[in-house]
Amino acid sequence: MAGRRSSAFLFAAVLACACALGALAARDLADQAMAARHEQWMAKYGRVYVDAAEKARRFEVFRANVAFIESVNSQNHKFWVEVNQFADLTDDEFRATRTGYKPAGKARTTAFRYANVSLDDLPDSVDWRTKGAVTPIKDQGQCGCCWAFSTVASMEGIVKLSTGKLISLSEQELVDCDVNGMDQGCEGGEMDNAFEFIIDNGGLTTESNYPYTASDGTCNSNKASNDAASIKGYEDVPANDEASLRKAVANQPVSVAVDGGDSLFRFYKGGVLSGSCGTELDHGIAAVGYGVASDGTKYWLMKNSWGTSWGEGGYIRMERDIADEEGLCGLAMQPSYPTV
Ligand SMILES: *[C@@H]1O[C@H](CO)[C@@H](O)[C@H](O)[C@H]1NC(C)=O
Repeated sequence: MAGRRSSAFLFAAVLACACALGALAARDLADQAMAARHEQWMAKYGRVYVDAAEKARRFEVFRANVAFIESVNSQNHKFWVEVNQFADLTDDEFRATRTGYKPAGKARTTAFRYANVSLDDLPDSVDWRTKGAVTPIKDQGQCGCCWAFSTVASMEGIVKLSTGKLISLSEQELVDCDVNGMDQGCEGGEMDNAFEFIIDNGGLTTESNYPYTASDGTCNSNKASNDAASIKGYEDVPANDEASLRKAVANQPVSVAVDGGDSLFRFYKGGVLSGSCGTELDHGIAAVGYGVASDGTKYWLMKNSWGTSWGEGGYIRMERDIADEEGLCGLAMQPSYPTV
């Protein structure tokens, strides 16, 4: 009896041990697969780390982001996310280097020239790209000057609509020269402040005359004085009112602030972004249209400044007219546009 009991015990012990080994082995395999995935990702995006310690730290961030992305994609949303070029950055790092909207905290103007536009008269969909009022997608790189790209995008739009000419304008002029107020180049800024700078400065020069460097620089006043286009003023869309936003966007591209650091926005790849996104405004983009997806979901068409590999060729569709008056990711909180 004693022998049988001990051999049963031994058997159970061996089994438990084998299971534990099996679990260990499975975890090792998963680790190896994730490490290989990280290597492939590094190669794809040309990422190089200074040492093994940084690589180990980045690997843990990558692993957590991959888990988040896979869990979102398993939930059957109207949109999907992907392991993109931002997958080894923490939330804080991402917000610090790829966004850059800083709310000015001052009163926003009240004039709104589209107030009396009838919603019934607006088209069901608008896409300013098809009217030639949107320049190709740009890339802010590792510089928190989204505010400059957002400002320039809506200005390029109104310049095209008023003069017939689509001119790619200079973000770098804003980064280098709009430095005496609240705007601080790669350290952040705000679109209304940038409009004010452009009005005071007499306009902006072209992208090709004053090209983008993705870094803070000294203002080149020779280049900056060579204005290619100008604006006379700017107005704020009434806050938290997507109907008013639609009146404005039906008439011209509009600068918009969103919570671009939200992981859903950061890793967005396609479809209509919807669901729970934050409203911590930290990123400037531009509304360049709106429409209705084939499943009936209403969306805003937004131009971003993270290159063409992000989102739908650099654009994002974000759900429109949601119950939350602040709009998805806060998009209805602080929109504004230049006037000519
Ligand atoms: C809108 O209509 C009201 C009432 O007629 C008028 O007082 C107001 O000035 C109009 N606003 C604009 C922006 O045209």
